[in-house]
Amino acid sequence: MILVTGANGMVGSYVKQIFDLDNTYLTDIPEMDVTDPAKVQKIFDQIKPRTVVHLAAKTDVDKCETEIDDAYKTNALGTLHVVLACKKIGATLVYISTGGVFGGNQADPYTEFDEPNPPTVYSRSKYEGEKFVRANLHNHYILRAGWMIGGGEKDKKFVGKMVSLFSERDEILAVNDKIGTITYALHLVKMIKQLINTGLYGTYHVVSEGACSRFDIAQEIAKIIGSKAKIVPVGSDRFPLPAPRGISEAMRNYKLDLLELNTMPKWQEALREYLASWDYKRV
Ligand SMILES: NC(=O)c1ccc[n+]([C@@H]2O[C@H](COP(=O)([O-])OP(=O)(O)OC[C@H]3O[C@@H](n4cnc5c(N)ncnc54)[C@H](OP(=O)(O)O)[C@@H]3O)[C@@H](O)[C@H]2O)c1
Repeated sequence: MILVTGANGMVGSYVKQIFDLDNTYLTDIPEMDVTDPAKVQKIFDQIKPRTVVHLAAKTDVDKCETEIDDAYKTNALGTLHVVLACKKIGATLVYISTGGVFGGNQADPYTEFDEPNPPTVYSRSKYEGEKFVRANLHNHYILRAGWMIGGGEKDKKFVGKMVSLFSERDEILAVNDKIGTITYALHLVKMIKQLINTGLYGTYHVVSEGACSRFDIAQEIAKIIGSKAKIVPVGSDRFPLPAPRGISEAMRNYKLDLLELNTMPKWQEALREYLASWDYKRV
């Protein structure tokens, strides 16, 4: 049985599409609040999972800057509770981490061999989660995702916002001085499925190929949906945010490349596939 935490979230919605639900037990709060070790243990005793896909997290990067205890309680200690329960029964753990652990200005995309330097409360708490996994459990996969896209009709993140702005405005501002790499949540879940039984434990970057800025993404969305709106590149100082982002969070799937397991497409293809998957309002 595969146990999933945080299954009501965005990535969880793709787990529901891709995994065999007869063999998957989906949990979220309040049934399995990962901050409560007794609740975690109770579900483990009941389900006795062979594999755990740990998605539960506080994921609002800006909110985490002020709700610091919550971020560490869920993302770091919540992960420790899941890790220790896995250890007790020898379950394999898949932990989803973030490219946000890199927040520097390195010119080349970060690989799994680069040292993280997390600049935000969110990324530090996720990185502490990574450390708990590595220190306590041999049979683990830590998958670092990039700027996650997905969610379709419920998409309130950058792509969803851009799609609705294109239908309302003739001119859109988009930041061009920060770069990252995107991960379509569907592709991440397919990669979890691909790796889960390989026994090739360790840390992997799972992003689409090629670094891009929000401006690049906005331009590509306009091209795909046929919008004629003008897109104006601006600096990130035009949209001040509580959490300090580094200049680059761009990653490369170096280990997947070396193992010849990298099935992730170029970012433009991933964006096109995502936009084709739901009925966004044509502009
Ligand atoms: N989204 C991204 O851009 C991104 C990028 C890289 C990595 N990741 C990682 O990928 C994983 C999945 O992300 P996602 O995008 O699916 O996030 P999401 O949509 O926020 O889903 C996370 C789920 O976890 C639940 N949760 C929060 N606290 C919990 C707790 N104490 N116990 C159990 N469940 C709890 C959330 O419930 P509430 O909604 O009620 O809080 C939500 O249903 C996370 O570990 C995240 O850190 C995300």
